[in-house]
Amino acid sequence: RNPVTLARLDEMHRAGEQIVMVTAYDYVSGRVAEQAGIDIVLVGDSGAQVVLGYDSTVPVTVDEMLTLAKAVRRAVRTPLIVCDVPFGSTETSDAQAIETAMRFAKEAGAHAVKLEGATEDRLSRIRAIVAAGIPVVAHIGLTPQTATALGGLRAQGRDETSALRFAREALAVQDAGAFALVVEAVPADLVAAILPALRIPVIGIGAGAADGQVLVQHDLLGITEGHTAKFVKQYASLHGEMVAGVTAYADEVRRGAFPSESHTYAVRPEVVETVRA
Ligand code: KIV
Ligand code: NA
Repeated sequence: RNPVTLARLDEMHRAGEQIVMVTAYDYVSGRVAEQAGIDIVLVGDSGAQVVLGYDSTVPVTVDEMLTLAKAVRRAVRTPLIVCDVPFGSTETSDAQAIETAMRFAKEAGAHAVKLEGATEDRLSRIRAIVAAGIPVVAHIGLTPQTATALGGLRAQGRDETSALRFAREALAVQDAGAFALVVEAVPADLVAAILPALRIPVIGIGAGAADGQVLVQHDLLGITEGHTAKFVKQYASLHGEMVAGVTAYADEVRRGAFPSESHTYAVRPEVVETVRA
């Protein structure tokens, strides 16, 4: 496959082909995305929770995200790589936002960055980063970095005020220069109503049918433990298999069944004799 470009994504959108996006946070998950033929790999700040164990995306730093992004970059040849800019790394000024986005482009080889929100400040950041030459994916609806202000991790656009705000924001981020829009946890009918008004593709997560979909790889593979959001579909149950595998190993070591001869190096007896002597 040829590397996925912005032009290719635009072509897919115009042709009505679904754009498939999935997260990756390291070399292994990057290879999985590559081999599965994914169009866009998202180094999501969900990695803060999924692979770094924080209880939200708020604490993760630019340096931590860069480490994840660089590992993904080494794994991925074909998909477009989009990196989330973490909370606090673009809020102060347009100059700070450009500096942060530049680090993801230069140090991690990100093709684009993703920014949450669509307030006046956020629109200004989108314009600034795009003007600096780095493509931007916008993210509206449920925006986990500011979930506290939204009243928790809950669906957006469910009353008139919130629905109108959603529609206004979708158009505003497009006008600000975003080349794609992630919409999280917004009713499907509301998303369907706004799609005809947009030139850029909408990648949904908990947003019903759109121009494409995104899920957290560790959620869809069942690597994540415990509660997952309503919008997650689990296509495998790897966590159980992983625990079972490591448990079987521990059990075999404890009862002397591992290592067996087939996992052991042989040596000529004379060689051993020289050591005994
Ligand atoms: O961080 C992430 O995984 C995301 C997706 C859920 C869109 O932002
Ligand atoms: Na994110």
